[in-house]
Amino acid sequence: MSKNKDIFHQHLAQTTPFPFGIKVSHAQGSYIYDTQGKAYLDLISGIAVSSLGHGHPRIKKAINQQTEKHLHVMVYGEFEQEAQNELAKELLQILPESLNSFYFVNSGTEAIEAAMKLAKRVTHRQEIIAFKKAYHGSSHGSLSLSSNELKKAPFEPLLPQIKHIELNVIEQLAQITEHTAAVILETIQGDAGVRFPELNYLKALRKKCDETGSMLIFDEIQCGMGRTGKMWAFEHFQVVPDALVSGKSLGAGLPIGCLIAKHEAMLQFSDNPMLGHITTFGGHPLVCAAAAEGLKIIREENLLEGIERKAELFADLLQHKEIIEVRQLGLMLAIELKDEEKVQQIVLNGLESGILLFWFLSTPNAFRLSPPLNISEEDIRIGCSKIVALLNEL
Ligand SMILES: Cc1ncc(COP(=O)(O)O)c(C=O)c1O
Repeated sequence: MSKNKDIFHQHLAQTTPFPFGIKVSHAQGSYIYDTQGKAYLDLISGIAVSSLGHGHPRIKKAINQQTEKHLHVMVYGEFEQEAQNELAKELLQILPESLNSFYFVNSGTEAIEAAMKLAKRVTHRQEIIAFKKAYHGSSHGSLSLSSNELKKAPFEPLLPQIKHIELNVIEQLAQITEHTAAVILETIQGDAGVRFPELNYLKALRKKCDETGSMLIFDEIQCGMGRTGKMWAFEHFQVVPDALVSGKSLGAGLPIGCLIAKHEAMLQFSDNPMLGHITTFGGHPLVCAAAAEGLKIIREENLLEGIERKAELFADLLQHKEIIEVRQLGLMLAIELKDEEKVQQIVLNGLESGILLFWFLSTPNAFRLSPPLNISEEDIRIGCSKIVALLNEL
């Protein structure tokens, strides 16, 4: 056993008894390399994070330039920092006018926590409605939004006054009432195995929230930032939320979360009581500089234009008798197999054959793909032919 293995297994906290354990040397483009020089085609992007691939020269440059200027100077909110302003300017260009105020934090979970708090402040209500099979994070608040009893039970009591409704069941919208502070929905459910709201359902949900004065909050931590072929997944449905939560790939490889709402609503955090939501590192200048550059790259390199073609290529190539269904929007895919055990096998065998696949927390009969948005068509062909070869071997 090498010294490194000792440290990793014995001194770094683990989240599962069987981590992948790839010893990462470096990463470039759509590939991650281990210390033995083996290349892994990254079809998951560190779960929907590395959308610009690894080591993008413009991101590295933006980080280096910011490093030369300054790193942390003050807790969030007190000082005016150019990197935060730049990121806000970029975000303003790609959002509807009503979503014009940004609270930068360090992770998606934190942004969800902030969203829940904001809804309570804006509406003076406590109840929050989430969806069956939702995933919004792992903290006490965000875990309360999950309906996965197995994952929640050891940590109870969690937050009171959280209800769960079934996606696309119009009748259950009746549970949204004048007592509901917010309804929180992943616009495309990720961990549920890539599940979509129906257009009419989402419109009815918007209407119900308008009627009851409840805030409609979309979690686009995973499905936003171009992953589905549009900058935001809600653009597919022409339904605008009252608040939007982003994270993951927004940071272009650095840790970020962002709560987005209208300015008047966000004022609730700064008054009566002031300091209603605070963070030391949120809006870190290095992260904001990378994130702002990431958004410029998506725009200037027209990254979204190619997504539909790439998505079709995946759909065409991923055909096999073991595959029951490929659920996808853009480059957010769930590959559902007939047999749950085969999902385990294929993800592990993928490591051997040099492709990174991953499972879902709550959808055991499918594996996920979320490759970098700038993956080449050649790499899509390589990846899919390896997946098909693995399925043939099972
Ligand atoms: C839809 C969704 N919401 C929230 C989160 C939590 O984000 P983070 O892990 O950055 O805290 C995730 C992470 O996987 C997610 O997919």
